[in-house]
Amino acid sequence: MDLTQLEELLARIEAEAEAAVKEAATLDALRSVESKLNKGSLAEAMKSIKQFPADQRAAAGQAINKAKNVVKGLFKKGQERFRQADVAGERKKTATFDPTLPPPVVQRGSLHPVTAVQREVEQIFTNLGFAVVGGPEMETEYFNFEALNIPAMHPARDTQDTFWLTNGWLLRTHTSPCQVRAMHRFGPPIRVIAPGRCFRYEALDASHENTFFQLEGLLIDRDISIGHLIAFMKLLLHEVFHRDVKVRLRPGFFPFVEPGFELDMSCAICDGTGAQSNGTPCATCKQSGWIEILPCGMVHPNVLRHGRIDPRQYTGFAFGLGLTRLAMMKYGIADIRILNSGDLRGLVSPERLAGAAIGGSA
Ligand code: FA5
Repeated sequence: MDLTQLEELLARIEAEAEAAVKEAATLDALRSVESKLNKGSLAEAMKSIKQFPADQRAAAGQAINKAKNVVKGLFKKGQERFRQADVAGERKKTATFDPTLPPPVVQRGSLHPVTAVQREVEQIFTNLGFAVVGGPEMETEYFNFEALNIPAMHPARDTQDTFWLTNGWLLRTHTSPCQVRAMHRFGPPIRVIAPGRCFRYEALDASHENTFFQLEGLLIDRDISIGHLIAFMKLLLHEVFHRDVKVRLRPGFFPFVEPGFELDMSCAICDGTGAQSNGTPCATCKQSGWIEILPCGMVHPNVLRHGRIDPRQYTGFAFGLGLTRLAMMKYGIADIRILNSGDLRGLVSPERLAGAAIGGSA
């Protein structure tokens, strides 16, 4: 045998080992092939070294050792495969069905961001002795406008255009009708909040929807002042955001309060700067850095009269929290339209909606 023939023999041995590793059905079968090769062809090859001339023996020895290592590696891999299969088989054998174990955790949706914030605000106010009440979404013109000191032809009606029903009722434009309804129902003193859906015939943009949520608040008692109003508003925002929120209070006109205020909070989307971190102008606050969120004021005497309450004995404050916008500020949702879009990412984790935007916002 010369060196070329030896190399051919070794290549055949390696191929035989490879095929045996692939085909062996059991570990024993694999071991028997390995021992046959070691004692047979490989041993023969070792013996053949003597036949080579002295100057070729080293090369022959090296080639044989290389082949031996290859064969050894192949069988080791094959054995490992059987070992792993054995472990898995053992596991299978010992795994039994235990009906007392809890079922695997299934990822579920969660509360809509607006519902989550609504519940939080309800908790804050019920802790302060307020009752949670509701009101109809289909409302009469009387409760939506007239009882709130907005008679027919009053220009304030133009700011709250809505959807009128064929029976003369309308889809309520705000939760404020709940004020006079609560006065009729409970009489003074009153502490109520009324969360609910509102509707407006509105040009849509990043902060305006035609369907959105407000939360009305009404406190009527003797000697209630603006000081009480501001203290409650500050407490509310502090409790929702768990920090002091930058707010500004400015005069605001609503026919049903006197005096009336607009309470704005610093825009959480752009951190009050008017531009997002990547430099794009903030569509949520229209680059003003402020979001109108909590208009409020002292209940107008005419409204108290409509509520059958004597304004000489009782005063009170009311507010109309923009609940949908509050959810946007709390969770960093830049575009209000996402909240009505049925985007399920928002139910699993509202935070994942942060920064999401719907194209074409004004
Ligand atoms: C009112 O609706 C008054 N009823 C609030 C009020 C109550 C004032 C009691 C005084 C006393 P306004 O139209 O500003 O006011 O709406 C109140 C809040 O609702 C706004 O600050 C805003 O946060 C939210 N809001 C109003 N229109 C929309 C809209 N189209 N989309 C989303 N949120 C809105």
